[in-house]
Amino acid sequence: MKQVPAIVVTAAFILCGVIIGVKAQPRPVAQMAAAPQSQAGAKTAEQTFKNIQVLKGVPAEQLFPTMQFIAASLGVECDFCHVQGAFEKDDKKPKQIARKMIEMMYAINADNFDRHREVTCYSCHRGSARPLAIPAVSGEPADTVAEVNTLAAPSMAQTETKADAGPTADQLLDKYLQAAGGEAAIDKITTRVMKGTIDFGGKSFPIDIYSKAPDQRISFTHLPEGESVTAFNGHEGWLGMTGRRAREMHGSELEAAAIDADLHLAAHFKQMFSHAEVRGTEKIDDQPAYVVMGQREGKPPMLLYFDEQSGLLVRMVRFADTALGLLPTQIDYTGYKENDGVKVPLRWTLSRPEGRFTIQISEIQQNVPVDDSKFVKTPDPEPAKSGGR
Ligand code: HEC
Ligand code: HEC
Repeated sequence: MKQVPAIVVTAAFILCGVIIGVKAQPRPVAQMAAAPQSQAGAKTAEQTFKNIQVLKGVPAEQLFPTMQFIAASLGVECDFCHVQGAFEKDDKKPKQIARKMIEMMYAINADNFDRHREVTCYSCHRGSARPLAIPAVSGEPADTVAEVNTLAAPSMAQTETKADAGPTADQLLDKYLQAAGGEAAIDKITTRVMKGTIDFGGKSFPIDIYSKAPDQRISFTHLPEGESVTAFNGHEGWLGMTGRRAREMHGSELEAAAIDADLHLAAHFKQMFSHAEVRGTEKIDDQPAYVVMGQREGKPPMLLYFDEQSGLLVRMVRFADTALGLLPTQIDYTGYKENDGVKVPLRWTLSRPEGRFTIQISEIQQNVPVDDSKFVKTPDPEPAKSGGR
């Protein structure tokens, strides 16, 4: 996994958002094999971007996650295929090949897998621009994350059965709720204010995080060039940088922000899942953990890893749906400490194919007053005021 600073990725997104002015709502249906879900009325990629030939019908908001999926599958950066500042141009050969590859991928799935998205760019590329054609001498066993794509496919979801007699998913979710303090104690938490550091790319910056029940959250990362903000106010989410226009979150990104903002999340998993099942055990930091896969109506599934002993949540893997495949985000939680009767992880690492960051909390306060004004979007910068530096 490459270490690209999350903030750089975020900044690149903000820039792209500003340059291209992406604006779209979720909507259902596109006409291709296993196309992503969306809602009627919102813009498609070809209505929003200049030169879309094969990703037609894909919701515009999914174009960037889809591009991230391609980049992650091939282990390349955007400029492998794109001319700087002119994404619509077809000058680079790899971009032209990629178009053919997208059509090939759809055709493979249509011809062989009943249009289910079984084969993706990653199936062949495995993080390299040039797929291997010769088997390796020693292979890594496929882990649950790699299987999710198949498990989540409509054809497979119903046929899986559990063989051994370990705990059920419901029991593990209950055990976690108890281990985290129990529903009553968790419900009593109305606000949480945390201070600490965020580490990425070998650097460390101060971060402040404010949460307010039921579902508001905002974090401020203090960078030398200004403040970077990630926020969810109960219905909208946005990413911002001092002096720049905030970028709105959409689709899977917005859903993920809502999950992170849920102050009583431990009590809500059960109602979130339409179906949950145990997928076996995996070792995390040498400790065995149960893997629970939760299915969500019309959304990608989620994986939750519960420490076998403590019952606490040690890892969450969630997926953004893109036009070509599922893009994973993994969060590892450690350093649980009890505060006001609830256990809160004071360290977590968020990893994506393009990079990761770790947050270490040094100060935590709960049930202190946090004004709603904290979660109000800062207005767009005035055109006259030049941004940042
Ligand atoms: C392996 C090649 C490849 C990589 C890597 C890649 N893209 Fe693309 N990108 C494409 C192709 C192909 C299209 C056109 C799709 C079509 O015709 O339907 C496209 C289209 C786009 C467009 C639409 C441009 C327009 O106006 O028509 C944007 C914006 C874009 N990509 C951004 C990105 C970003 C940001 C990244 C890095 C995260 C990225 N791409 C990585 C191949 C790539
Ligand atoms: C069935 C296997 C398979 C799938 C699926 C697949 N590729 Fe490929 N791809 C290949 C092979 C094999 C090559 C190398 C061909 C060669 O060496 O000439 C390649 C080459 C490429 C290249 C050129 C790389 C270079 O170094 O110039 C790009 C770009 C690319 N693929 C993009 C994609 C994208 C994007 C997807 C998903 C939409 C995808 N591929 C899906 C097998 C696949």
